[in-house]
Amino acid sequence: MKTSPAIPEEIDSVLLTRQVIDERITELAAQIVRDYDGMDFLILGILKGAFVFMSDLIRKIPLPMEVDFLTISSYMGRTRATVEPYVPDNQWPQIAGRHVLLVEDILDSGRTMAYAARECLKRGAKSFRVCTLMAKEGFETSAFPNPDYVGFVIPNAFVVGYGLDFGERYRNLDYVGILNEEFTRQAS
Ligand code: IMP
Ligand code: MG
Repeated sequence: MKTSPAIPEEIDSVLLTRQVIDERITELAAQIVRDYDGMDFLILGILKGAFVFMSDLIRKIPLPMEVDFLTISSYMGRTRATVEPYVPDNQWPQIAGRHVLLVEDILDSGRTMAYAARECLKRGAKSFRVCTLMAKEGFETSAFPNPDYVGFVIPNAFVVGYGLDFGERYRNLDYVGILNEEFTRQAS
């Protein structure tokens, strides 16, 4: 059942409303403030998916921080990762000696985060933590089983909205919705 004309046909259901997301971000930010108080840290958002989450999160963390972004992509407009995550050397910010907090939209196979963690440690990060808005059920057995801050554990479906896309669309929805599986099959 569609509850609002603003919800596209291809969205089966709304999983996380704007309000639920906002309340959870307030809690995550409070945890981060407790853990990072007195530390000079670098908050590193993974593009593109995390840009909406990141912008809401950092404005709830009133601590000195540096903000940067890193583009890591392993999707080619489909619903499964198709290439190994990789970031060329010249696109990495200064990591050595920094406390790095990585901000991600969603943890699925864990390959993106496992790669980022490996690289940050290799590049001499003083500490490395991950904050992800969502983690798909079963992430405990993924390639990155230990994210430090998790907003929501969600069912194993393909979700869009609040920054997350399918073929670069739907990022502007202000909620997270489950994309119709039939639709994703037709499109890919
Ligand atoms: P992982 O490397 O498999 O953990 O995938 C992480 C990346 O895949 C995320 O940064 C997202 O960009 C993308 N991704 C994984 N699941 C979804 C989804 O359900 N919707 C949209 N993007 C997703
Ligand atoms: Mg992403």
